[in-house]
Amino acid sequence: MLTDHELARYLELTDPAELQELYRKAYEVKLRHIGKKVSLRGLIEISNICRKNCYYCGIRSGNTSVRRYRIDAEDIIHSALWALEHHYGSIVLQSGEVVSEEFSSFIEKIVREIRTRSEGRLGITLCCGEQTPAVYERWRKAGAHRYLLRIETSDPLFYAKLHPADHNFEARKQCLRELRKLDYQVGSGVMSGLPGQTAEQLVHDLRFFQEFDLDMIGMGPYIPHCDTPLGKGIELTPEYRRKQLEIGLKMIACTRLLLEDVNIASTTALQALSDTGREQGLLAGANVIMPNVTDTSYRRGYQLYADKPALDENSEQSCSSLTEKILSIGEQILWDEYGDSRHYFKRKEL
Ligand code: 5AD
Ligand code: SF4
Repeated sequence: MLTDHELARYLELTDPAELQELYRKAYEVKLRHIGKKVSLRGLIEISNICRKNCYYCGIRSGNTSVRRYRIDAEDIIHSALWALEHHYGSIVLQSGEVVSEEFSSFIEKIVREIRTRSEGRLGITLCCGEQTPAVYERWRKAGAHRYLLRIETSDPLFYAKLHPADHNFEARKQCLRELRKLDYQVGSGVMSGLPGQTAEQLVHDLRFFQEFDLDMIGMGPYIPHCDTPLGKGIELTPEYRRKQLEIGLKMIACTRLLLEDVNIASTTALQALSDTGREQGLLAGANVIMPNVTDTSYRRGYQLYADKPALDENSEQSCSSLTEKILSIGEQILWDEYGDSRHYFKRKEL
């Protein structure tokens, strides 16, 4: 039973030895609940078209210097089947937020097609923003069984500072509830190290994860993007990067200590800050990695933040270098498994 005060103290640690001790404790909890195991999800960034205009994000609708794309259905399915052949067991289809009948049925068809062609051997996670319950239901019926929708921050006033006035915090929370009702495994998360963010706010985020009884957590440190209102003028010095990586790792560790058996992703943002960022994430308590399997020709279009890694690396290269890195820290990869959240099954038993 960790108190808010203890959590805040963890998040404020700076002493290297104390930090290592925190990560070690979190890793032990991961070992107890999950073992030395890492689940992989092939990430496909299907479109960078987004109707939202979040102040921190490089593909916000207001950024006119982004060339917008949507990958053709056949090419998305091709990447999904590539992931299957390479024993990934699971994929994430991620896109900017588009609300239209055309988009809903596009996703629905792709999900159905991947389910059929993979004979149900690929777990499918969607990450396509806020939609109506009816759309979530269609996608669920088509065969998606996990959904990621980050709350970004659990503090409504801070949320209002990071987003234009028409972005609605309550609506986002309601989406998480709807997803839950539809029996998705539900994931959410926040960014850490945002300008002006306090340890107390991050503790509130951790309590939010707990209160919403989430199955999966995907979060990462904020990384400025120069074409955004929030990122303009922030210099990415080595010291800045080090701090961002550190707060990202501390949030993973605290989440593991608090939520114990959920799936926690070691996200690309960590890798953007350090070559070994994702491995460090695993050693601080994360158990999921999402290697990018998007066709390399599209990757430049999906830059949420500066210095996105592996822009030129093809999926084949990403796969073998990642496998080596994971094995080198003594972890095993769960090949050919969905890698479902244990928490989801436990809460269903209750
Ligand atoms: N730095 C880090 N993460 C970001 N995201 C968007 N912009 C940034 C940024 N500048 C994250 C958000 C979003 C996810 C797709 O990427 O949390 O939910
Ligand atoms: Fe769109 Fe997500 Fe970026 Fe916001 S964070 S602009 S919703 S892609």
